[in-house]
Amino acid sequence: MMRAVQMGDIKEKVVFASALCKEYPITGHTISALRGLNLEVVEGEFVSIYGPSGAGKTTLLNLIGGLDQPTSGEIVVCGHDLSTYDEDFLATFRSAYVGFVFQSYNLVSTLTALENVAFPMELAGWSGNRVEKRSEKLLKLVGLSHRTDHFPAQLSGGEQQRIAFARALANDPPLLLIDEPTGNLDVETGLEIVGIMEKLKTKGKTILVATHDERIVKLANRTLHLRDGRIVVVDE
Ligand SMILES: Nc1ncnc2c1ncn2[C@@H]1O[C@H](COP(=O)(O)OP(=O)(O)O)[C@@H](O)[C@H]1O
Ligand SMILES: [Mg+2]
Repeated sequence: MMRAVQMGDIKEKVVFASALCKEYPITGHTISALRGLNLEVVEGEFVSIYGPSGAGKTTLLNLIGGLDQPTSGEIVVCGHDLSTYDEDFLATFRSAYVGFVFQSYNLVSTLTALENVAFPMELAGWSGNRVEKRSEKLLKLVGLSHRTDHFPAQLSGGEQQRIAFARALANDPPLLLIDEPTGNLDVETGLEIVGIMEKLKTKGKTILVATHDERIVKLANRTLHLRDGRIVVVDE
């Protein structure tokens, strides 16, 4: 029997990928990092991406976030077909829609913690006062209000990663792409990151996180198993 579709049932598709392929040319041959991957993620989902090193996790996150473009296939994110746009558009797209957290933090070493968090808002043209208020609020959210004037080199790995989370949230993006956030941290320090991810889950963001960390996998609504550039199993 058909069920009447209620408005509340319709969730917006945030990520749609079809037959997605990514090849990296290297001297003499190409490496196929993604081999015809299909994926749909709807608004508010928390999806973990699980797979061995080299499976294509980082490549997939980079394509979804418009940091790189596919060799072939379709990738539509927040209503934009990313395979058709140039670098200028992709930069605007990233600023409006995507917060990235990289495995190796990628903070700007010459900027303080506060300035690192403020940077995306300044790029987006926010007023100075608003930027400062929000940067302080985000540093508080990740428990680092006492580290505002520290430079990345003066912070531990776990603290740098928390700053990276605050920066990813700066422009209040609907989509968060998080690459092995506890991969470089010891178990104890990783717990603080898991705590931040728990908080994010309650904020209604769409989250894709590449991880091997069981504590994060447990938070996810579903887990994609990636192997050799394809999704092999999906746990609901
Ligand atoms: N910039 C690049 N140039 C060449 N090969 C790459 C590049 N980035 C990734 N690869 C290769 O693509 C495959 C998938 O890599 P990656 O997406 O980083 O996997 P994962 O994040 O799951 O470890 C690997 O074989 C890797 O060596
Ligand atoms: Mg990776």
